[in-house]
Amino acid sequence: GEPYTEVGALAEEMKGNSVLVRGRAQAIRAVGKKMAFVVVRERGFTVQCIVTEQEGSVSRQMVKFVASLNRESIIDVHGPLTVPSSPIKGASQQVEIQVHKLYCVGKALPTLPINLEDAARSEADIDKALQAGEQLVRVNQDTRLNFRVLDIRTPANQGIFRIQSQVGNIFRQFLLSEGFIEIHTPKLIAGSSEGGSAVFKLDYKGRPACLAQSPQLHKQMSICGDFGRVFEVGPVFRAEDSYTHRHLCEFTGLDVEMEIKKHYFEVMDIVDRLFVTMFDSLNASCKKELEAVGRQYPFEPLKYLRKTLRLTFQEGVQMLKDAGIEIDPLGDLNTEVERKLGQLVLEKYGTEFYILHRYPLAVRPFYTMPCYDDPAYSNSFDVFIRGEEIISGAQRVHVPEFLTKRAEACGIDVKTIETYIDSFRYGAPPHGGFGVGLERVIMLFCGLNNIRKTSLFPRDPLRISP
Ligand code: 4AD
Repeated sequence: GEPYTEVGALAEEMKGNSVLVRGRAQAIRAVGKKMAFVVVRERGFTVQCIVTEQEGSVSRQMVKFVASLNRESIIDVHGPLTVPSSPIKGASQQVEIQVHKLYCVGKALPTLPINLEDAARSEADIDKALQAGEQLVRVNQDTRLNFRVLDIRTPANQGIFRIQSQVGNIFRQFLLSEGFIEIHTPKLIAGSSEGGSAVFKLDYKGRPACLAQSPQLHKQMSICGDFGRVFEVGPVFRAEDSYTHRHLCEFTGLDVEMEIKKHYFEVMDIVDRLFVTMFDSLNASCKKELEAVGRQYPFEPLKYLRKTLRLTFQEGVQMLKDAGIEIDPLGDLNTEVERKLGQLVLEKYGTEFYILHRYPLAVRPFYTMPCYDDPAYSNSFDVFIRGEEIISGAQRVHVPEFLTKRAEACGIDVKTIETYIDSFRYGAPPHGGFGVGLERVIMLFCGLNNIRKTSLFPRDPLRISP
């Protein structure tokens, strides 16, 4: 049979050719009983199709059938391509299909729980429309997530998940080109990998176990296994108690672990080059997607430097102090303070992407290496976009006796991580790495206000379906 042509590939040069396309009936309009128009959408491209009795190519019954199609149904359309004399409004392709045959291959319900046109409008646009007395429904986030398969069809969401795909792609390509290998570590593990209470516990054939809060332990063990440089893209589980704009109970972790030859700055060098490459590449290869996101959720392009700014925690504390904000120099930064520091950094250095390193040891996980010159601090860092954390990383303790001591000091039951600690008894190189929250990267790069927008089917404390 005839091959399908993609709607996006339909062009004026194909005038007169008979084409076959498949897409969704985005809009259907009858003109009397003899004619109907259908706008067919495929991957964001649209083409107008005309069904008319006049040319004798279709029956009146066919016109009636088309006029009664439900929006969002999947249809196959067959017929010659024509080029109208005046421009077509409301379709991306400036050609029309004169329909000879039309089949419905996947019927949608007559009324949909979300009106896609309303769901695709920006807040400003909705406000304007409401003021003008237009009838429309503001689609709230829960409704969107309840009917996510429909919600995903909006241009902004199509953009978001294509950008997400590209982020994963660049992450892989960059690291592979730097001599890293991709690993896959278990998500069912015996003990908590990050400590604390945010862990999903489960029964593993009668034994206590949990869902991995990160690939932390096994990515380090892979370094003990002599791979030198590893990375992983995989699910991370956190039994979060807080319902916030940036926490999920399951997210995608982009994890890196590598041998360190001289200094933990080698790990920060990878972060630096990886992310500058990533931002450049997104700006260059995802222009259309970024525009689609921006049309619904306006945002300014991310400001970042060619060489990523690095500040020490102490420098950060000082900048805050100079701005009249006193914080505990050996404590952690709360979300509000992180945001504030982000603003100060932007004003002073002109970047919305930077690394803060040499954190106080007390606020870092047990496996973090203290600074050689001052054990109150650690060889660790966080990375921020627009004042919010996207990465945390560090050099790790690779001496088993000291690791045991650190775990005990942090209140961890050493028995549950015995095999991890043992891994360092057979000779382990100095090493470090970092973990990136994929959904946060896209949320913050695009200036979005909620992590649920960048998770395909988000899992939060209140939601485990769809
Ligand atoms: O800061 P976290 O907890 O660090 C680790 O898991 C370490 N094992 C990383 C390392 O290699 N040292 O998580 C890393 C990143 C955070 O910076 C954040 O971007 C993201 O994961 N993240 C979350 N994203 C969504 N929802 C949550 N509940 C998240 N918790 C952390």
